[in-house]
Amino acid sequence: MLKKLFGKKKSSNKQINTEKELLDNIDRSRLPRHVAIIMDGNGRWASGKGMVRSAGHASGVKTLKTILRAAVDLKIEAFTVYAFSTENWKRPTAEVDFLMKLFADSLARELDEMDELGIRIKFIGRLDGFSPYLQEQFDNACRRTADNTGVRFNVAVNYGGQDEMVRVAQALAEDVKAGKTLPEDITADMIESHLDTSGMPPVDLVIRTSGDMRLSNFLIWQTAYAELWFTDTNWPDFTKAEFFEALVDFSKRDRRFGGLSKKK
Ligand code: FPP
Repeated sequence: MLKKLFGKKKSSNKQINTEKELLDNIDRSRLPRHVAIIMDGNGRWASGKGMVRSAGHASGVKTLKTILRAAVDLKIEAFTVYAFSTENWKRPTAEVDFLMKLFADSLARELDEMDELGIRIKFIGRLDGFSPYLQEQFDNACRRTADNTGVRFNVAVNYGGQDEMVRVAQALAEDVKAGKTLPEDITADMIESHLDTSGMPPVDLVIRTSGDMRLSNFLIWQTAYAELWFTDTNWPDFTKAEFFEALVDFSKRDRRFGGLSKKK
């Protein structure tokens, strides 16, 4: 028993050390302003443990809480997570229903604490695809935290990057129709102003868990010059230490934005 306890303590100490070492190694002057996360692998994590897929999503919320808290501590300006894509409706009804309930329950449970931490929440995507109850919950969370000045926490739900571009095109076409602008006067800034993330910095760092190396229709405009960081870890197993590892790696990247390296 003692040995078992000692063994456990030892391994958790090691974890704390690694986490602390990594945290100390983060160059605060080279932190990403906007981090976007594709929280993949919940289903695989659950299946690997002989559990139903939904158990993976429930566990994924706990990871999200931990990593969001780390983003708050590091004063990252914007933090966007992919929680439900426009394609996720194709999943079995029971899984979709579970996710809807998970969004509502997690919000109800976590809103007070997020508010106290100064987090500004926004749900991005085609929100009219959700039940009136859930839309009301989303709206309430946004309104309640609108005056906060901390991390801008965006939850992408019923979100697709191509769908967002369609909505932008429609809004601009309306502006042209109303005589507010001419097609030839449309600029990148005008497109930006119609994005779901309007007013926020472009994405600097995309983290995707669970091994796949693609963007999957996530923030396709905003990630034009983002650095990409992938890990095989399934989202429920993703730790603060791994988040810090991604940030340390990011701080060493040579970002040229199409220009020449400052290092040369
Ligand atoms: C991808 O894993 C994960 C999702 C589609 C859902 C992510 C949602 C959460 C973690 C809940 C977030 C909650 C709030 C309140 C924002 P997957 O199911 O595609 O995993 P797989 O690739 O292993 O099948």
